[in-house]
Amino acid sequence: ALYPILAAIAAYLLGSLAFAVIVSKVMGLSDPRTFGSKNPGATNVLRSGSKAAAIVTLLLDAFKGLVPVLLVKFFGPPYGLQEGTLAMVGLAAFLGHLYPVFFRFQGGKGVATFIGVVFGIDWVLGLATAASWLIIAFFFRYSSLASLVAAAFAPMYYLLGDHVAWYADARVATALFLMALLLAWRHRENIYRLLQGKESKLGTKKAH
Ligand code: G3P
Repeated sequence: ALYPILAAIAAYLLGSLAFAVIVSKVMGLSDPRTFGSKNPGATNVLRSGSKAAAIVTLLLDAFKGLVPVLLVKFFGPPYGLQEGTLAMVGLAAFLGHLYPVFFRFQGGKGVATFIGVVFGIDWVLGLATAASWLIIAFFFRYSSLASLVAAAFAPMYYLLGDHVAWYADARVATALFLMALLLAWRHRENIYRLLQGKESKLGTKKAH
């Protein structure tokens, strides 16, 4: 059982790259941990005013969830790596983003990385989850609300897909539920602000 453990460690290390911080630094922008929600994530990078930096952050944070899952999926089977390892590396990359070893374990909320993992598990599931995020964000203008709804729906979409898809697996479903729960936990301040009507809307800069 060495390969699955090595794969999970590699995924955790990759997940630990806080691209919001790295991209902002490279592009000469302020550290996202110092303004807005103080969260190192694409939404908060957007509050710096740079759409390009926010998009690059979103894509890189998503890739670090997507890539380990796809690697296990396509290159794992000859080494005995299957769904259990796939679920584990997805979770490991996600945990790396939340608790990054390179950033004193002070990471982000996991939305982009979660969506990357979900795309890796199944691209239709990824599209459904991303579409859920976009629809809520479009109508309500809260990134956090869109993230919470999308994360809650992803495991349900996966289980619904179980009736037709060969790939459904209890370990993958469990990883999705765990990630959704952790994501909601990391959004506890956002949830409080949403209930108070004090959450910042998309398109407003450097709020709070
Ligand atoms: O990217 C996480 C998003 O759901 C909320 O981010 O900065 O508004 O707390 P933020």
